[in-house]
Amino acid sequence: MRLAALLAIAAIVTSLIGNARAGGAEVFGSRCAICHQPDARGLPGIYPPLADSIGADVRVKQGRAYLIEIVLNGMSGPIEAKGTTYNGLMPPFGSLSDDEIAETLNYLLNKYNLGMLPKKFAPITAADVRQARAARRSPTDLARERKTVQQSVVDGNVKGVANEAVR
Ligand code: HEC
Repeated sequence: MRLAALLAIAAIVTSLIGNARAGGAEVFGSRCAICHQPDARGLPGIYPPLADSIGADVRVKQGRAYLIEIVLNGMSGPIEAKGTTYNGLMPPFGSLSDDEIAETLNYLLNKYNLGMLPKKFAPITAADVRQARAARRSPTDLARERKTVQQSVVDGNVKGVANEAVR
């Protein structure tokens, strides 16, 4: 996966250079869309979709933290999204501000995952991101944690708690 490695390096370099404060749409467009694609649908087998996908995670508290931790720390190791396997490398974006990370995730959730959000979805805040920075996670830990989050979402759906506001 040489292309992915090159893109990862390019993304790290861009994330180090650009430090002007930007809103969620701008951050997504300048940092994330190169891999996840401008429509957030990803590239099958290479970059996982973020549209109609990550919205399920915010139904459980651990899933909110998981999304933030991925942006902060990156991700590597095999995952399965919508029936397709991915084993790529997502670079870390910890150099973005707490606000920028919160706004980028809220942008993705509200624009591309609306149908999956819990009814009382409480937007991710800069304080949530600050808290997640303290929990240092490795990119491979996060690929593993994804399984736990997805199982909790399934269990929550079974128990009918999926639409509760989770903070
Ligand atoms: C260099 C390419 C690249 C860039 C740039 C990138 N990602 Fe990723 N992202 C990936 C890859 C590859 C994965 C899957 C990693 C794996 O297979 O373990 C991933 C996974 C994710 C996931 C987990 C998806 C899931 O189904 O659980 C989220 C959330 C995410 N990225 C958000 C972002 C955001 C937000 C940005 C911009 C700040 C971003 N990514 C920038 C390549 C990238």
